[in-house]
Amino acid sequence: MRNLSIFLIIIHTLLLLITHTNTKKLNSLTVKSYEKDPSTYSNYEEIQQTSVFLNLYINFQQKILSGSVTITFTVIKNNVNKLILDVNSLSIKSITKGLTILKFSFDDTYSDSLGQGLVIILDRTYKQNEKLSIVITYSTTEKGDAVQFLSPEMTSDPTKGKPFMFTQCESVSTRSLVPIQDTPANKITVQATLTASSEFEVLFGGIKTNKVDLPNGLSVHYFTQNIPIPPYLIAITAGEIVGRDIINPYNSIKIRVWSEPINIDCTHLTFNDPLPLYVKAASEYMFDYEWGSYELVILPKSFPFGGMENPNLTFSSPSLIHCFKNERGELVADKGQVFIAAHELAHSWTGNLVTNSNWNHFWLNEGFTVFFERKLIELTEGYEARLLGAELVYPSLLDDIRMFILRGNKDLTRLLVDIQKRNPEEIMSKVPYDKGYALLHYLEQSVIKDEKIFQRIFRSYIVKYKYKSVVTSDFIDVFNSEIEEIFKSDQERLKEIKSKLSFNEWVLEEGEPVLIQNDYSNSLSSDCKVEFKYFLQYGKFSSSFESKFNQWTSLQKESFLLLIRDSTDSKTSTPYLVNYLRNTLNIKNEDKYAINIRFRWLQIELKNGKNYEVAEYLSKFLGSIGRSYFVRNIYDLWMRIDKNQAYNDFLINKTGYHPSVVSGIQHDFDLV
Ligand code: BES
Ligand code: ZN
Repeated sequence: MRNLSIFLIIIHTLLLLITHTNTKKLNSLTVKSYEKDPSTYSNYEEIQQTSVFLNLYINFQQKILSGSVTITFTVIKNNVNKLILDVNSLSIKSITKGLTILKFSFDDTYSDSLGQGLVIILDRTYKQNEKLSIVITYSTTEKGDAVQFLSPEMTSDPTKGKPFMFTQCESVSTRSLVPIQDTPANKITVQATLTASSEFEVLFGGIKTNKVDLPNGLSVHYFTQNIPIPPYLIAITAGEIVGRDIINPYNSIKIRVWSEPINIDCTHLTFNDPLPLYVKAASEYMFDYEWGSYELVILPKSFPFGGMENPNLTFSSPSLIHCFKNERGELVADKGQVFIAAHELAHSWTGNLVTNSNWNHFWLNEGFTVFFERKLIELTEGYEARLLGAELVYPSLLDDIRMFILRGNKDLTRLLVDIQKRNPEEIMSKVPYDKGYALLHYLEQSVIKDEKIFQRIFRSYIVKYKYKSVVTSDFIDVFNSEIEEIFKSDQERLKEIKSKLSFNEWVLEEGEPVLIQNDYSNSLSSDCKVEFKYFLQYGKFSSSFESKFNQWTSLQKESFLLLIRDSTDSKTSTPYLVNYLRNTLNIKNEDKYAINIRFRWLQIELKNGKNYEVAEYLSKFLGSIGRSYFVRNIYDLWMRIDKNQAYNDFLINKTGYHPSVVSGIQHDFDLV
């Protein structure tokens, strides 16, 4: 008996200890107004870079960039005699300040993904407000993951025999393109002089100021980015790329698309209508577009994202374009994914003008951009289309939240995270995007309940912080002071609004959104739901269903397929249904269906278990695209069914993927 009570006391104390440390851990994350960027080695709080001049040769033979970078700094504190930059897989030749050669060494105490600190001993001790410039001669190496060189086989048109290259720097890969203070906390202007063989077009995230053809077969391309940007927005691409202007009837912003020659007609056709409309709507909702020109380039299939908001020049995946010939032989574009261009354009304000100070506040970049993206969809296509966009992604948000919980990373289901020394890629999920959107949607529709007033608050936040970097409390402070001002003559309303506000709980809430719930149901998907209900009732489709399905927009088709994917009703795995999708609707047909539709169909096939009939199609799909979201998702389902075969497919296709995607998939395989 005594033993038992001692035992119980011990257990009780242990439990108390465990719960106590847990609450302590929870409380350790609060909404602070400042914190140092945990993902950089640099001493940016002591000495701060203000401009960067890149002078690089794009060497397709050796698959490297080589040359120099000149960085100018302002000293922030007194007694600074050391400069620490971020590097990853770079080969540093020399560092000079004027005629003085500076000594340097490397610090690699953090995790691999954060690279090393390049510790430079300055020529003397510097005082606050002094300025200095240094020149680093260096080259990239094939080990870095910012720069991907593609062989001609990896381009959209291997018959041309031309290689290709592009960079992808967000979140922490700029350090494998150039030695730099790789933190979004401070911003820089950038100039770039890029030299390459004259047979290639060279593009950069900035304005092209000049091009000089040299007699030796090389061309020098001059660029400038005069708006201060975070380093992760530095971007270069080169290859056989052609451009075509889009007529902008609404304002003076120059709009142009680029792609490999084989894709240019489809690229132009796809973005011709929506881009000028998006630029107009965004400028009117927020304030004038400040970057001068808006261009978008469709890259080869290994580009790992749908899109990346590089300034002046959105980079995107070829999975955004899908064209086919109609009965009259005319080329027609399926515009099911042009909303991604709205998203990347929206970043020109949210993210690129107002930037997260560090990756803990990534939701300020992406959540606000998803909100602005859907606002553009609302302004150009209507409120129902905005709701459909939100409704379509919601199941994936729940999937990601459950996945984080399952893998023991519940802390990453919060909007505001505490990333510590983890790789910022680990926080990539729908959480910052769509849990972020959910909060802003809720504020607009259920707290402020007035779109014009919400617009005023949103705009004030962007105006106040443009060219700067922000943390979560900066937005909360603007929100609070704006409502005080707006409702000062309506104290009742102000009181009511304030009683609903609970920012600290909202941004720290773990798991599925409970505090914030929105109703995204809409007239566009209700049609899909009616048809799905009919199917659930009768176990088959009506005779008119096929023509109805064909008339739906790409996103409605996706919405319908998601209903099947997420249903637990056994009718959604009958041979009838499998056969209907496979053969009657013939969703495997690449000419007829855009990749986002085929992706949803494959998810249904894999949900049904061992469908080896589609194994061949599956391998083909996995070899046809390198967009991380698509391939990681399909491998993830495939490996749960047949790990060996999935791994075989991965080995075959891996050389066609971006290095970040290869390591992501490898990581998933190791977990299963
Ligand atoms: N900035 C992101 C892509 C990104 C995020 C790259 C983090 C590296 C690290 C881009 O704007 C984005 O969100 N792309 C999405 C678009 C979608 C949400 C509309 C994509 O590619 O899926
Ligand atoms: Zn984004």
